[in-house]
Parts: sequence; structure tokens; C-alpha cells
Amino acid sequence: MKLLVCGGAGFIGSNFVRIRLAQGDEITVLDKLTYAGRRENLQDLDVRLVVGGIEDPAAIADAIGGCDAIVNFAAETHVDRSITEPDAFVTTHAVGTYTLLEAARERSLRYVQVSTDEVYGSIESGSFTEQSPLQPSSPYSATKAGADLLVASYHHTYGLEALICRGSNNYGPYQYPEKLIPLMILNALHGDPLPVYGDGQQVRNWIFVEDFARGIGHVLEHGAPGETYNVGGPDEAVNLDVVKRIIALTGASDDLIEYVTDRPGHDRRYSLGSEKARALGWEAQVRFGEGLEKTVAWYRDNTAWWAPIRSGDYRAYYERQYGRALG
Ligand code: NAD
Ligand code: TYD
Repeated sequence: MKLLVCGGAGFIGSNFVRIRLAQGDEITVLDKLTYAGRRENLQDLDVRLVVGGIEDPAAIADAIGGCDAIVNFAAETHVDRSITEPDAFVTTHAVGTYTLLEAARERSLRYVQVSTDEVYGSIESGSFTEQSPLQPSSPYSATKAGADLLVASYHHTYGLEALICRGSNNYGPYQYPEKLIPLMILNALHGDPLPVYGDGQQVRNWIFVEDFARGIGHVLEHGAPGETYNVGGPDEAVNLDVVKRIIALTGASDDLIEYVTDRPGHDRRYSLGSEKARALGWEAQVRFGEGLEKTVAWYRDNTAWWAPIRSGDYRAYYERQYGRALG
């Protein structure tokens, strides 16, 4: 296929691009290269990169020629940043998704929106299905939910071949270290404190990034237009246990754990039921223990990837967020 992959220079997008190139797809990436989007993520890959925002019709027009389908990963993705600086979340998720949908509609292109389990909100027990109501709680998840509704409306109103794929918490190579797992790995490797929000008893449903990327590809090829597919990981884990596993894998000390002020409006538990995606023929292959080991090994072996991040603007972000400097 000839794909336009928006946000393809980020964490999940670049893993998706790597997998799809190996399967023979031709790919153009449209990416604004925000702090989270990096040319390094696409290094050595045979893709055309157009630098621009999905809210910019001219950038889309430049990138879209010859494509059969659009997969949209482009987003602001960190809940903590959505709490302190929500503007970019509204621009990219609302205006950006709208602009991209219009471009897809003009050209009658198949369209996959990459979304998140966070649109359903928090669940105490059981798992969300695609029928669960949307009850987002942060500016991140609320704007992602808004984008999903707009995508669904383009199928319903204009007959656009649009699909939505909702993933659970991803982890793996190339994830920007503001997120729990890479942050804890790099801090543990450096002997920096490991900041656990609140009581650390929140639960997340973890999926290895390659499993999610394959799931999105599967929905792109086999999903029914107008449908939403949950693509969740095989394991759930309590945050504090995740941190302790990382301590064990890096050989760091338990004393690095530091309980810090909780995130405002913090969702307690996410859990995604993925029967519909499994019925389509997709299955997660990587259990959390194996994926976490691979991820720790990747960060240990890829200093050249993260060293520029840890010595750049990320330091100022970290200081604002955690009220202390990185070591
Ligand atoms: P990321 O932050 O690593 O990457 C986002 C990418 O989008 C970056 O390359 C960035 O430069 C680009 N981007 C941001 N705004 C843009 C704009 N206006 N125009 C063009 N490009 C723009 O994020 P990620 O973790 O790879 O997430 C990708 C998608 O998957 C997002 O839509 C996110 O909501 C969804 N998702 C993420 C997770 C997770 O755990 N990370 C889980 C489920 C779903
Ligand atoms: P995060 O990786 O930000 O993903 P999300 O909020 O989208 O699930 O956080 C995962 C969990 O880890 C979440 O419950 C918040 C918690 N967390 C910490 O305890 N400390 C941290 O420094 C970070 C970044 C997250």
C-alpha cells in the first residue's frame, strides 16, 4: 500500500513505519517534529518526510499525493503536559483531525485514526468494550475523544472509509522519556530518584509497541469502515510493581523510589477488552515481562538516542514537572 503516516516520527508511528516498510509498503510521513517527533526515529528508513502540521492544508497537500490511505498518529500525547499547557492538544486533536479528514474526504481515502483507551475514562473492575461510553477526564483524553467523534461523523455523514483503533498504554523502543516506563528506566540507570505519583497503586494495561503497531495495520487492512477496534495489551500492572520490576532489571536501589504529589484528576485504572480485534485475526504476542526486558535492554544499548534528549529541553521540562533537576 501507499500510506500517508501522520505523526510517523513519534514513538508508535515510527515503530509502525518500520514494520510496514518491511512488509513492502511505500510511506510518506507528515510530522510537525514537535519535541516528541524526531528525525532520528526514522534514521536509515526509506521514507519521504514532509515536515508540517496536520492542521495545515498546504502541508497535507504536499504529502498526500499518490497515497491510498491515511493513518493518523499525530497528537500531543502526555497527560501531564495537557494539564499545564492544553492549547496544542486542542489545535492538533480538533483542528488537525478536522483538516486531515477534509483532505481524506476530498480524495475518498481510507482513514485510520489512532486513539486511546483513555477516552473511556477510569474503570474500577472489568474492561471497556467499544460500546462503553466515552468519559474522558484529562484535556488529553477529552480532545482525543472529540477527535474520535469527528472521525465517526465523517463516516456517518459523508461515507468516508474511516476506522478508529484504540490502544492501551504502549511501551518499547523510541518512547520519549516523559512517560512512566522510559522515564523510570533512564532515571534508574542514572541513579536519579524514581517519582511515583500518589500511592503508586494505579493500574495500566500495557501493550508492547510492536503489538499495537501490528494491530493498527490489521485494522487498516481488515477492519470495517465506521467501526472502532480496541487493541489492548495482554497484561495489567500496578505502577509501583512496574517501577520495582525496572529496579530489578537495571540493578538500581529501591531507595530511589520517591512518592511525589499525585497528578490532578489521575485515572485509577485502565483496562481494555480486545475481543473484536481478536475476531479480526489480531493477537498480542509479547507478554509484559518479556517486553519490559527488551525495552530496558534497548535503552541500555541506545545511549546515542536518548543522550541528546536528556541533555536538552527535557531537563527544563523535568525541573518544571518534578521541582528538581535531573542528575
Ligand atoms: P508521540 O508523542 O511519541 O508522537 C506524536 C507524534 O506526532 C510526534 O512525532 C509529533 O511530532 C507529531 N505531531 C504532534 N502534533 C502534530 C501535528 N499537529 N501535526 C503533525 N504531527 C504532529 O506519541 P505516541 O505515543 O507515538 O502516540 C501516537 C498516537 O497513539 C497518538 O495519537 C496517541 O494518542 C495514541 N496512543 C498512544 C498511546 C501510548 O501509550 N503512547 C496509547 C494509545 C494510543
Ligand atoms: P504515563 O506514562 O504518563 O501514561 P498515562 O498517564 O497516559 O497512563 O503514566 C502511566 C502511569 O504512571 C500513570 O498512572 C501516571 C504514573 N506516573 C508516575 O507515577 N510517575 C511519573 O513520573 C509518570 C510520568 C507517570
